[in-house]
Amino acid sequence: MPVAPRYELADGMRTQVAIIGAGPAGLLLAHLLTRGGVDSVVLETRSQEYVASRIRAGILEQSSVDLLTSVGLGDRLRAEGHEHRGIYLQWPGSRHHLDFVDLTGRTVWVYGQTEVQKDLVAAGTADVRYEVAEVALHDVETDRPYVTYLDREGNQQRLAADAIAGCDGSFGPSRNAVPAETFERTYPYSWLGILADVAPSTDELIYAWHPSGFALHSMRSPTVSRLYLQVPNGTDPASWSDDRIWAELALRLGHGQDGWKLTPGPITDKSVLPMRSYVQTPMRHGNLFLAGDAAHIVPPTGAKGLNLAIADVTLLSAALISQFREKSSVLADSYSDTALRRVWRCTHFSWWMTTMLHTGDDPFDAQLQLSQLRWVTSSSAGATGLAENYAGLPIGF
Ligand code: APR
Ligand code: PHB
Repeated sequence: MPVAPRYELADGMRTQVAIIGAGPAGLLLAHLLTRGGVDSVVLETRSQEYVASRIRAGILEQSSVDLLTSVGLGDRLRAEGHEHRGIYLQWPGSRHHLDFVDLTGRTVWVYGQTEVQKDLVAAGTADVRYEVAEVALHDVETDRPYVTYLDREGNQQRLAADAIAGCDGSFGPSRNAVPAETFERTYPYSWLGILADVAPSTDELIYAWHPSGFALHSMRSPTVSRLYLQVPNGTDPASWSDDRIWAELALRLGHGQDGWKLTPGPITDKSVLPMRSYVQTPMRHGNLFLAGDAAHIVPPTGAKGLNLAIADVTLLSAALISQFREKSSVLADSYSDTALRRVWRCTHFSWWMTTMLHTGDDPFDAQLQLSQLRWVTSSSAGATGLAENYAGLPIGF
């Protein structure tokens, strides 16, 4: 699909939507806008190789898979991704499977964010300027906003636009250009995450509560496993030997319980991920629209980060296409409220999963957590609540 032409102006370039950030939110937005006949330019501070190499989460809600498939990004996902019916919830002596299909008729797919990024780049529908610097937003309250930046050769550039989309994550400049109310919750623990060249020891994800801390068994492919351990904030990944990691995973995931075995293997990547919940409202200020991590951060326990970014840009692209092609601002005017409804639902679910599954040193809390786990695995109402949120609600609900 051809990318729409750029308009060179005496004092810079002009496009319809200036997108800041070429992560999944920015690239998918450019893809959806191009399909809708709206012109955009993407400015990214990192190199294409760096952006493509970042290891991130790997679970797609059904609504994300349906959206990606509907815009021509489903072929490799459906060929190489793995459709899961549900997850396992585990605590010492107990492991229960929650079948999302039986409970909600919906599934989830295991397909790494890195793969989604690769498919977006391969689609060739985004005009991305990589390795830019000093990106600054101007006149976002006016109908002639513009962005200034240094291109990779160090030349000062100016990009005029009708709208700016801030898809620059939690450390980019866009979020600070929106006078906003912010809501934040931090957590007294982090995740030690590993990638390992070993076949997963489970057919679907295992979320484990254990007195020693949370553990998660996920995967990337039939030969690559992705696993996580709850560790104290500030943990140095190098302070955990591979043997100690596998021993702790075996303990928390219930190795030997009902004959189940965790098979260790060579660890190829080790990192520590701090976690927090963060929301800023509104997600629009004048002709600046925020999407993805630029507006909200969720702890990874609910597997919502990427899915929220996809939902945001699905709503935002529809709003901008309607504004530029049908001259209607109805969707643009309701974008922030509609997106925030899903943001808070996912923020609550991610907080709920996180506080239900991560252990501290309060015995009363531990009993509350176990009671909640017993409830969501024995009550159809409880299980359906979890399944509905995990498998994902329709975009724009
Ligand atoms: N100028 C240009 N680009 C920038 C700037 C800047 N000043 N600051 C940051 N960026 C780029 C980053 O380099 C990154 O490539 O913005 C991009 C933001 O991408 P992400 O952080 O991946 O955020 P998003 O696209 O919203 O995707 C959210 O990513 O972090 C995961 O769990 C999260 O899955 C969720 C998804
Ligand atoms: C992952 O596969 O990396 C993953 C899966 C589920 C989560 C978080 C991370 O909740």
